[in-house]
Amino acid sequence: MFVISLYNLKGGVGKTTSCVNFAYMASKDGYKTLLWDIDPQGASSFYFKAVPIIKGSSKKIIEKTIAIKSAIVPTNYTGLDIIPADISARKLDILLEENSGAQKQLKSILKDLSSIYDFIFIDCPPGVSTVANNIFYVSDAVLMPVVPTMLSKRTYDQIKAYFIDKEIELGKLMCFFSMVEIRKKMHNDIMHLLYQEKNFFEHYIPYLSDIEKMGIKNAPVEVFAPLSFACQSYRALWNNIKEGILD
Ligand SMILES: Nc1ncnc2c1ncn2[C@@H]1O[C@H](COP(=O)(O)OP(=O)(O)OP(=O)(O)O)[C@@H](O)[C@H]1O
Ligand SMILES: [Mg+2]
Repeated sequence: MFVISLYNLKGGVGKTTSCVNFAYMASKDGYKTLLWDIDPQGASSFYFKAVPIIKGSSKKIIEKTIAIKSAIVPTNYTGLDIIPADISARKLDILLEENSGAQKQLKSILKDLSSIYDFIFIDCPPGVSTVANNIFYVSDAVLMPVVPTMLSKRTYDQIKAYFIDKEIELGKLMCFFSMVEIRKKMHNDIMHLLYQEKNFFEHYIPYLSDIEKMGIKNAPVEVFAPLSFACQSYRALWNNIKEGILD
């Protein structure tokens, strides 16, 4: 089982959109896949039209008053399940802060799923929080979408410094460019600069209206636009990521 969290300190950079598409693509590749939506905004859950079956499930999973398995619901797609977000996820920070063994606890919660799933994707809320810190430890890969602007470069530097400071394995931090407008000189310049860092994937996700349409179609892009450039971009990047993590 491989745990991939979609994370960035910055909001609105494409974490949820890519989490939904990669999780779908992993399941299409034949991997048994789970998406755990821990962002109380519940955007991943919205794309899959999924609602929680247990009230306060996020809190109860962390407190271990319910088994994580009992919060899982199937999506409309074979091999792809989801733990939908619920409003109690907004309290995860406090719950994890109060619990000194939180990292181990989270790891043992996820371990219960290792005989069932090949991939677990975690859609994280933005910010540097206790949640993020714990997620870094339990993830095999922290996948970070980066919009190529000067401020994002600064954010990337901050996160990298955080990993070094907390002695989290830097190899886990895997980045890709998101919402790229290739005709913009600034996007090109920042990409050129950041490609010198070892942890950026070569393939990137352009800014495309087909990706925005996911909100209208309530589905991953491969479902409603399988031949689109948007879908090809996600496929190429997903193959890039698989090579990177499964090697
Ligand atoms: N490559 C893209 N091209 C066009 N629109 C995009 C692209 N990626 C994301 N979007 C749009 O940008 C908005 C933000 O994307 P998304 O919700 O994936 O970001 P996020 O990082 O998860 O945000 P948050 O921090 O709020 O969780 C959405 O409306 C989405 O449809
Ligand atoms: Mg999101």
